[in-house]
Amino acid sequence: MTKDAVLDLLRQNADTFVSGAEIGRQLSVSRTAVWKAIEQLKEDGYRIDSVPNKGYLLSSVSDVLSEEGIARYLKDPRLPIRVYPSITSTNTVLKAMAADGVPAPLALIAGEQTNGRGRMGRSFYSPSRTGLYMSLLLRPGIAAADVTGITACAAVAVAQTIEQLSGQEAAIKWVNDVYVQGKKVCGILTEASIDCETGVIHYLIIGIGINTALPEKDFPEELQAIAGAAFEGEPVPDLRCRLAAGVLDRLMAFSDDLTDERIFTEYKKRLLVLGRPINILAVGKEPEPATVLDLERDYALLVRCEDGSIRRLNSGEVSVRLTK
Ligand code: BTN
Repeated sequence: MTKDAVLDLLRQNADTFVSGAEIGRQLSVSRTAVWKAIEQLKEDGYRIDSVPNKGYLLSSVSDVLSEEGIARYLKDPRLPIRVYPSITSTNTVLKAMAADGVPAPLALIAGEQTNGRGRMGRSFYSPSRTGLYMSLLLRPGIAAADVTGITACAAVAVAQTIEQLSGQEAAIKWVNDVYVQGKKVCGILTEASIDCETGVIHYLIIGIGINTALPEKDFPEELQAIAGAAFEGEPVPDLRCRLAAGVLDRLMAFSDDLTDERIFTEYKKRLLVLGRPINILAVGKEPEPATVLDLERDYALLVRCEDGSIRRLNSGEVSVRLTK
C-alpha cells in the first residue's frame, strides 16, 4: 500500500526533508499519489511537516498506536498483538475471545475505549489520544489464590516502564494503582475464569489503563483531584508504542516466574502506603482507619487498627485510601 511505503521511506529519512518528487520516483508512483498518502497518514495521527521546495518530514513526536509501531519496540517474540483505534473495552473483548478459546498469550491494545471498566464495577475514563488501554491474556495454570502476584507484577511493569521513558519516579498504591507526582496515572483490572473443582485458572486477563497525558478537555470533575498524567514536559517520540511494548515485555518476563523475589522487592520499594495512615474500604461498610505496618510476601497488607489489633488485608476483599 502506498501509504505504508511512504511511511517507511519517511522513517528511513528521519530528520531530513524528502521531496514529493523524490518519494514518487523511489516508489514509482505519481506525486498526487504521494500527496494523498501523506494526507491519509496525517489523518491517522502522524505529524508530518510539509515545506514548499523542501518536501515532507516525519516528526519524531508522532505518537500513533499501530501493530507495526509497537512491534518495532517489542522484544518478546512469543506475543501476538492486535491494535484497535477504538474499542468498547479491551478486557471485555478479550474475555469473549478467551471464552471462545483464542490461544494465549495475546494482547489487545487500544487508543480509546467507549466502555472502559475499572475495579469494583466502576467505569474507567478512556479518552482518545491521551491514554493507552491494553489487556493481556495468559493461561498460566496457577491457582486462583496466587493471582495477586500477577496483579502486582503488572504494577511493577508499568512503574518501571514509566520511569525508563520519563525519568520520573512512579509509585504504587496497594494493590496496583500507579502514581506519578501524587496523582493516579494507571489503573489495573485483573479478571479470571476459574475451574471451580480444582481452583486452577482457565485464563487470566490483565487490563491496564495509563493516562499518558492530560485529556484535551481535562478529566471529568469527579476525577480531577485524583487523576494525573504519567508524562509531562518534553514529548517522548513514539510514546504509546514504546510504553505498550515496555510494559508487555516486562509482564511476559515476570509471568515466567511470579514468585521471583526481585519483583516483590521492586514492588515494595515503590509502595506508597507503608507506614502511613489509611482508611480500609470494603463494600457496604464504613471506612475503617488503620496504619500500614508491612507488606507480606503474598502481597497482603499488614495493618494496625485503631483498637490496636493487627489485621491482614487481602486485595480481593478490600481496598485502601491514604488519609494523609
Ligand atoms: C481501576 O483503576 O479501577 C482499574 C482500571 C483498569 C482499566 C483498564 S484499561 C484496559 C482494560 N480494559 C478495561 O475496560 N479496563 C482495563
